[in-house]
Amino acid sequence: MHAGTRTLLRTAVLLLVSATLTSCNIQGFFTSIGDDPVFVDPNAAAASASGATADGGPGKAVYGRICAACHLGSGKGVPANNIPALAGSALVQGDASLPIKIVLHGFRGPIERNGVQINGQMAAWKDQLSDQEIADVLSYVRSSFGNSGAAITADEVKAIREETSGRFVPYTESEL
Ligand code: HEC
Repeated sequence: MHAGTRTLLRTAVLLLVSATLTSCNIQGFFTSIGDDPVFVDPNAAAASASGATADGGPGKAVYGRICAACHLGSGKGVPANNIPALAGSALVQGDASLPIKIVLHGFRGPIERNGVQINGQMAAWKDQLSDQEIADVLSYVRSSFGNSGAAITADEVKAIREETSGRFVPYTESEL
């Protein structure tokens, strides 16, 4: 076989092997959404329910499972597609009751963030996520991506869930 051809073949085989190795992951899989690879943990739900602090804590697992699909693993969102950044958001880091209401019941525009008009709609998660999961994911969001907001407890979420039990449509900013 021609030396050049052999080198070419060897390179092809190496590429194939490394591609196979990087694409398979025994504990789960990586999915690339936007600019950040997001780790999808098949045990996330179980870990969260037990309150176990896995890699990055249970809130990170909930975030990767649900929120990252829109707000991205980096928390930067896609403002041009009406998805606001959670990174640097004053609403995310301030009064805890606001992000809790948003995750429970959803949120709809128009809003303006960093000079950009955003007019999207986020669904309610009250039927999918427990008080503990909402507390975990918001605690993660408030302390990640350069954010610094206090942690949220399941009791705080429970109280707001009860207070707002008559709510069936997403909040607008002025209703929060
Ligand atoms: C299907 C897409 C989608 C998913 C999934 C999603 N969001 Fe959102 N989120 C949005 C959109 C769109 C908005 C803005 C709606 C508007 O125009 O007011 C938003 C807004 C927000 C805001 C308000 C931010 C601000 O600065 O105003 C918070 C907080 C938030 N989301 C948290 C979360 C969390 C936590 C999760 C995961 C539990 C999540 N979102 C999942 C689409 C999504």
